[in-house]
Amino acid sequence: MFLNRLFMPARHFSLPLIVLLIGLVTSPVLAEDDPDYLTMIDGDGKDFAYLVCSDCHAMQHVLQKRYSRRGWRDAITRMTLAFGMAELEADERALILDYLSRYYSPGSAR
Ligand code: HEC
Repeated sequence: MFLNRLFMPARHFSLPLIVLLIGLVTSPVLAEDDPDYLTMIDGDGKDFAYLVCSDCHAMQHVLQKRYSRRGWRDAITRMTLAFGMAELEADERALILDYLSRYYSPGSAR
């Protein structure tokens, strides 16, 4: 009786549990599997912008916009003032602003 239990633990593993365990093991590479991340143009600041800006909404919600540099700056300020986004350090803010205005402004190639 006891030995049976010992040698047949597999019966107690349900599929959802296995899926959950695989998810936990692979979660550090989640961004690389996220279509929202994959459609972003590669460039300096991409990873950081994804990290900060996809916290509350999909990146596509952001990147469908074409703002000027000034427009992006205002949008980032809006996120902080109106929607409670944490204040960014000046260099963090510049990194995101550079990325967005380089690749997602009216004149950007794309
Ligand atoms: C704390 C939550 C939060 C974070 C973090 C956040 N946003 Fe937002 N964002 C919102 C909310 C709420 C809205 C308004 C509802 C909507 O449009 O879905 C919004 C809407 C937007 C919009 C569309 C409307 C507009 O104002 O133009 C843009 C663009 C945008 N966010 C850009 C950004 C960028 C860039 C970042 C990263 C620097 C960011 N958001 C991070 C909460 C957030």
